[in-house]
Amino acid sequence: MSKSYEIIDHHYDVVVIGAGGSGLRATLGSAELGLKTACISKVFPTRSHTVAAQGGIGAALGNMGEDSWKWHMYDTVKGSDWLGDQDAIEYLCSKAPEAVVELEDYGMPFSRTEDGKIYQRPFGGHLTKNGEGAPAMRACAAADRTGHALLHTLYQQSLKHKVEFFIEYFVLDLLMDTNENCSGVVVWSLEDGMIHRFLAHQTIIATGGYGRAYSSSTSAHICTGDGNAMVLRQNLPLSDMEFIQFHPTGIYGAGVLITEGARGEGGYLTNCDGERFMERYAPNAKDLASRDVVCRAMTIEIKEKRGCGENKDHVLLHLEHLDKETLHKRLPGISETAKIFAGVDLTKEPVPVLPTVHYNMGGIPTNFRTEVLNPTKENPDNICEGLMAIGEAACVSVHGANRLGTNSLIDLIVFGKAASITAKEKVKPNSAKLSVKKSSTDLILERFDNIRYNKGDLITGEIRQYMQKIMQNNCSVFRNEELISQGIEEFKKVELSMKNMSVKDKSLIFNTDLTEALELNNLIAQAKVTLHSALNRKESRGAHSREDYKDRDDENWLVHSLSWLSEDGKVSLGTKSVHMNTLTNHIESIPPKKRVY
Ligand code: FUM
Repeated sequence: MSKSYEIIDHHYDVVVIGAGGSGLRATLGSAELGLKTACISKVFPTRSHTVAAQGGIGAALGNMGEDSWKWHMYDTVKGSDWLGDQDAIEYLCSKAPEAVVELEDYGMPFSRTEDGKIYQRPFGGHLTKNGEGAPAMRACAAADRTGHALLHTLYQQSLKHKVEFFIEYFVLDLLMDTNENCSGVVVWSLEDGMIHRFLAHQTIIATGGYGRAYSSSTSAHICTGDGNAMVLRQNLPLSDMEFIQFHPTGIYGAGVLITEGARGEGGYLTNCDGERFMERYAPNAKDLASRDVVCRAMTIEIKEKRGCGENKDHVLLHLEHLDKETLHKRLPGISETAKIFAGVDLTKEPVPVLPTVHYNMGGIPTNFRTEVLNPTKENPDNICEGLMAIGEAACVSVHGANRLGTNSLIDLIVFGKAASITAKEKVKPNSAKLSVKKSSTDLILERFDNIRYNKGDLITGEIRQYMQKIMQNNCSVFRNEELISQGIEEFKKVELSMKNMSVKDKSLIFNTDLTEALELNNLIAQAKVTLHSALNRKESRGAHSREDYKDRDDENWLVHSLSWLSEDGKVSLGTKSVHMNTLTNHIESIPPKKRVY
């Protein structure tokens, strides 16, 4: 029972999908550079998930101790377990200080030192002197509400530049031309149900990660990786999807984030014996080792029956020894969340915590100019023209197999701006008129209708929960062949259930039933390629920890993985080499070595 839709057309130089930190930075940058820019977001911009980022934005300002962008680069390469592209990492770390100062100039209300400089705190995996020195004070913070401050600053600046926002508009799919280049998007307006077609010389995907593929996640319910799924539907690959970051300190039972900044300010973890167990796993960095290391240690403690509580299924984060002034001034947000979600007054007692899904290192492969890659055998760095990706949706790759805390916010800002610079270079006055493949709008709306009118008896929430359970159980902190294969087998039932899903509300206006069904469809595509990529990578590297292949295997696996999903649901896999070269001769590339903290 399909219907024909009236379509409203728009023409822009640049369309940005998503209004989180990267989307807003790209939007603002494009508008500042004089490009006609639209920003489309399924939620009000300041409700984007960046608002939840807490601890800080990484940049070697050296405000509170010696630091250098080169040490930041060393830490990031090491943190990535050498899977990060070193040209892109050089770009990120060398541009980070100016990007933060620019934010300050835009009016971002950073916390301050006594002498008025931007306040910086230590974070996991950030050290001085190429990993040999003391912890680096590198995380530029606005208390523990850094993402909140950042998002509001960028939104206000975008308004100043008279950007056109399309808020509560849900992007259905990418429009491609006959050369398979991107020429825009088809969008459903949640407010009035109208369908819009945006034609743009550059489409920038900034739709964030897909944390909601898991049941316990620090990600908001909106984190469904819609852009990643759109890319898969165009037969373009995603990269490094097996690398899922768990954050060590999600509140037990709720999954809500307690910032790593808490350990940066002096917090520490203990097991049921009251032992500071991180001293055994990371003798130097201890509680400030990188996240994958801390999560594995916590999981082992729990597995070996040294967890806390009645069921010995979590560990404790201690902050009660810190002075009240520090907690009040530097960590006011988590003081509140600990009270609400754990019922704990953290000035008096420890917080029960557990590793919780936090970030996707994988995503849409791009180069450091943020152009989306469509690798071919002849050219692994082949570009899909008209399409860019930034932020958590993208895999540049600066985070490789494991992201360091605070490197997400700086990634958003540096590559958000890079996208606007690339767009300015590419969109020339009088650029050729855009075209789209003849049937593409119809096909997009056919898919929309198929979901809207599907006849079945399962509701979205049931299927979503089933998928989340599989991902949580079968593709977690530790994996092995048996566990992942079981997950892949179970997952077939999830896909079958989709055929039996029913959207009860058929209307088009603020239809959350239909929105969630579309989002679930997007999540399922990403969860599937995640499982297959995890099964395929037969080594342990960063966040991908295989119990049956315990070591890193640089000989066979120092490569990015690529995954495609065909229309009939088949996953194909490939690889792409890691850029071990730096961008300039200001720094030499960092050869792989054993990663210890
Ligand atoms: O712990 C945190 O504040 C999270 C920061 C990050 O993921 O970069």
